[in-house]
Amino acid sequence: MRSILVVNPKGGAGKTTLSTNVAGYLAREGERVVIGDLDRQQSAMAWLDFRAEHLPHISGFDARDGWDKGRPKGSTALVIDAPAGIHGKGLSEALKQADKVLVPVQPSLFDMAATEEFLRLVVEEKAVRKQKTFVALVAMRVDPRTRTAAMLERFLSHFELPVLTYLRDTQIYPAAAAEGKTLFDLAPSRTRRELENWQPLVDWIRA
Ligand SMILES: Nc1ncnc2c1ncn2[C@@H]1O[C@H](COP(=O)(O)OP(=O)(O)OP(=O)(O)O)[C@@H](O)[C@H]1O
Ligand SMILES: [Mg+2]
Repeated sequence: MRSILVVNPKGGAGKTTLSTNVAGYLAREGERVVIGDLDRQQSAMAWLDFRAEHLPHISGFDARDGWDKGRPKGSTALVIDAPAGIHGKGLSEALKQADKVLVPVQPSLFDMAATEEFLRLVVEEKAVRKQKTFVALVAMRVDPRTRTAAMLERFLSHFELPVLTYLRDTQIYPAAAAEGKTLFDLAPSRTRRELENWQPLVDWIRA
């Protein structure tokens, strides 16, 4: 089973947006996807409640109760939505569950400052150093042609972690989420441009 952890201790970085969309992509590809929701706020679980029956199925469980309790059997992909403030043992445990780790980062000074120490910790993790766990960054809510994107790129270049893509700041994400949907559940005519931005991310997930 593949497992992807979406994590950044900074609140509002885009973790749940990224988790649900990664889950949506995998479900669309025919995987049996389960979201492990580590957040006390259970946002991903709330989102699943809105997801219509006819859409590619995604299941979920409250991963705070442990990794096996309540987890649906027979899934082929696990996406873990981490909470803000994750650290210490909780972070180590989550990293242990994952073979891939996605870190959404927004191009603001506050976000970058809050993410810096976390990224230093992550690259020091044994599994990451030994390349058992692969870590990559996703720039969130940013147009790659802007000065803020250049600033973010300079910041991220210190970590020797791949920056997979830049996802735009667009109402597509919150609008889809409000209906229990992802980018991959919408008409391609509405999402063509953003799907192009997803391609490198999708390739990394599949690799
Ligand atoms: N690319 C985007 N374009 C527009 N809005 C976005 C984008 N990514 C995230 N958002 C919005 O930003 C807000 C925060 O995103 P999200 O809830 O995914 O972050 P989070 O890291 O899970 O937050 P928390 O730390 O509270 O769990 C949400 O309202 C979401 O709809
Ligand atoms: Mg969240």
